[in-house]
Amino acid sequence: MNRKATNRATNRTLSFTADEMRKFGYKVVDVIVEHFDTIREKPVARRANRDVIEELFKEPVPEEGEEFEDVVDTVVKDVMGNNTCQDHPRFFAFVPGPGNFISAIVDALIGGFNIITCTWFESSGAAGVELAAVRWLSEMVGLPDEAGGLFVSGGSEANLTALAVARHEMLKDDTKDAIIYFSEQTHSSIEKGLRVLGFYQNHIRKLPPDDEFRIDIDVLRKTVAEDRRMGRKPFLVVASAGTTNTGTVDPLVELSEFCKSEGLWLHVDGAYGAAAVITKKGRRILDGIGLVDSLSIDPHKWFFQPYGIGCVLVRDMKLLRKTFQILPEYMQDAHGVDEEVNFYEYGIQMTRDFKALKFWMSLKVFGLKSFREAISWGMGLAERAEEVLSKSKRWEVITPAQLGIITFRYVTKGFTEEKLDVINEKIVDAMTEDKFALISSTIIRGQIVLRMCTINPRTTFEDIEETIAMLEGFGVELEKELR
Ligand SMILES: Cc1ncc(COP(=O)(O)O)c(C=O)c1O
Repeated sequence: MNRKATNRATNRTLSFTADEMRKFGYKVVDVIVEHFDTIREKPVARRANRDVIEELFKEPVPEEGEEFEDVVDTVVKDVMGNNTCQDHPRFFAFVPGPGNFISAIVDALIGGFNIITCTWFESSGAAGVELAAVRWLSEMVGLPDEAGGLFVSGGSEANLTALAVARHEMLKDDTKDAIIYFSEQTHSSIEKGLRVLGFYQNHIRKLPPDDEFRIDIDVLRKTVAEDRRMGRKPFLVVASAGTTNTGTVDPLVELSEFCKSEGLWLHVDGAYGAAAVITKKGRRILDGIGLVDSLSIDPHKWFFQPYGIGCVLVRDMKLLRKTFQILPEYMQDAHGVDEEVNFYEYGIQMTRDFKALKFWMSLKVFGLKSFREAISWGMGLAERAEEVLSKSKRWEVITPAQLGIITFRYVTKGFTEEKLDVINEKIVDAMTEDKFALISSTIIRGQIVLRMCTINPRTTFEDIEETIAMLEGFGVELEKELR
């Protein structure tokens, strides 16, 4: 890395003059604005080899400081320039992160005031915002007044937190013979969370889903009955409100009835799809989402927040505190009265940043109406993709547009399924190489399929049409090569 060390005096207080700080701030704002303004013209995928990257950052810890502006320029070129743009309108892989400008600059506000949302004593204002933002989410999904939760790092931590509450509440933390049920389509963070909590394969029933990739209630019923017959302790069902693979929503109303009748905890992983509940169509698809015992919902996915904000909601907020409260003596000054919510007693983290502010402020600035339209638009884009794909005999729609996700496969006569797998895999590689758009592949019913997730509100119908046309072009070329 090309360093331009300055011979400035040591800055013992790590501070700057008001003018310097303004200058630095404007520089960062300019860079972010430029990013938002020109993203369409940027390549979607930028990735360098390990040796190139290592060379860029190979330097000893700098003893002398550099000029701020120079470091920012280096970051823009070498760091940001070697990443994919998850916020690009033609980034359709995995789960895109469209972000929004308000939350991006609120991140600077959060860091600037360095608010800790640990205890009421330290940050009653921030706790008030977190309570309000969590209440908004809770109301959106239709949970009762006593429900509540907190912001965490993302869907994985939200799931882990909810699973810990279920274990504490249902088993008093005794995992012996305890059994958990979920479908093979459930996100891997559930299994990871269970592992962290001391559950292993013998505690887990991964059920084959029905033809539409939903939890099959009959299979669930039979498996639970068999486990009870064998003297085991069924205690938890995990369902999905929008699977990562196909956007499928498990039958939440039926699952809730079943869990109630069997005395089982129902956790729903809505990290990806639950946000769609604010739209008319989403509310219908997510029917029953308010009946859960706990729910994960990720603002850094379909609520357009910068990465690092998920949320866990529990039907009875007190259960979070029952699970996580430990009151050390060195915090005794902060242990207040019951109405003073100390968020560190409700989850895993003690020192917590003020994630709630970006979500809360973006809702205040845009209004829920804009978010509703943005989410509806994303669902409409996947439906448009389905329409385009259905018109060509070269594509088979594998799973229809559901909550902004569609899967499809390049098909042609005279090729074995194995060879079609190769073509489909290579189509993804060709698009990655081209950098016009980025899509990903997955495996459905043992076959390699293409998958597009279309939740970026800045994506246009033309983006969808041009991307599919290019994918088809790559398929035709590959077909010729491989025939
Ligand atoms: C359905 C679902 N659950 C959980 C997660 C994990 O969330 P995170 O990556 O924020 O930890 C994801 C991530 O894509 C997801 O799609």
